[in-house]
Amino acid sequence: MSISPLSPLNGMDLSAGLSAGDNFKVAWQSPSNIALVKYWGKKDGQLPASPSLSMTLEKAITQTRVDVIFGEAEKGLVSLNGSIDHPFLPKMQHLLDWMTRQIPCLSKVTLRATTENSFPHSTGIASSASGISAFALCLISIAGKIHGLEGDPADMMRMASFAARMGSGSACRSLYPGFSTWGATPLFTGSSDVYATPIAEFVHPEMLLLRDAILVVSASPKSLPSTRGHQSMNGHPFFSGRIMQANRNMEETFAALSANDFEKLGMVAENEALALHALIMSASPGTMLLKPASVEVIHRVRDARSSGLSLFFTLDAGANVHVMYQAGLAVAVEKFIGEALQPLCENGRVIFDSCGTGPRKLNEATAGS
Ligand code: DP6
Repeated sequence: MSISPLSPLNGMDLSAGLSAGDNFKVAWQSPSNIALVKYWGKKDGQLPASPSLSMTLEKAITQTRVDVIFGEAEKGLVSLNGSIDHPFLPKMQHLLDWMTRQIPCLSKVTLRATTENSFPHSTGIASSASGISAFALCLISIAGKIHGLEGDPADMMRMASFAARMGSGSACRSLYPGFSTWGATPLFTGSSDVYATPIAEFVHPEMLLLRDAILVVSASPKSLPSTRGHQSMNGHPFFSGRIMQANRNMEETFAALSANDFEKLGMVAENEALALHALIMSASPGTMLLKPASVEVIHRVRDARSSGLSLFFTLDAGANVHVMYQAGLAVAVEKFIGEALQPLCENGRVIFDSCGTGPRKLNEATAGS
């Protein structure tokens, strides 16, 4: 059996003698990500049925601060943004419970978290990848401080990725700048089902400048929670075909990223996006997540490409459309987006983002206060 990345945090627990005077804070900022090869379907133990590959975003981030308090009767994560029934609290509590089983010292402290997303509320943009990865980083920092361990930054990111996966699978890919993969694949030595692998060093530098305009076609929450969507792959008639397709698309996507082949990247990303929705529609029961405006955006993107504009789309498990383009063509593509796509968005909302630099430790004294 392989050794858990968290095992260095299972050493000597220094928390026994700590009291209110030793209270401390930790704070992290972490980004969301957009998958180019989709994670859809799980194996037991929150493991992916097939490998996935994503681009880390720059502006769609969550900032989280956790106040760590010793000596209070009630232990665990007791509030989020001052509320005891914040909708995101159960997901964070689930992650903390799992972490506490791995790192028992976490059961001895009281945690109050404050969190803020850069992207506006009610945009239908999922915050779980950024929110869960930021919280996982905070928990690893807390355990490190309690054990008096500084830790190597690369080990720390691996620990946070390992932990974030238990809160939300896609969150484990948010720990790295540029691009990362999750799921064992012969393409990368050391790739794993239990944490993500950074791959930016193999990606052409031009690809690290990619832009992503998120077209908010609908700001309503998704009608299919992704956990239920993953379950719908169990017994899905296309399951084995999907596994083959994802593995093949991993190879193609990686080849396109390393060779700076934007056209090929777009062909595979669109194939993945439409395959994801085809799987969702053909599950039992089937769900239609695309709105008429999503479909119209897709047609207009493809028409513009036929007329010579270089861009492609991808989709999450929702109605909003991500339009991706190269930095050098930003002026022309953003003009097209403003004229042809923005009018199709709810309240004209478009979030302009780009390939990002990964998580950042914040000054705990000022973050979230
Ligand atoms: C369509 O990571 O949200 O965005 O592990 O159940 O929390 P859980 O699922 P989640 O699934 C994301 C699915 C996706 C594709 C992707 O990001 O790879």
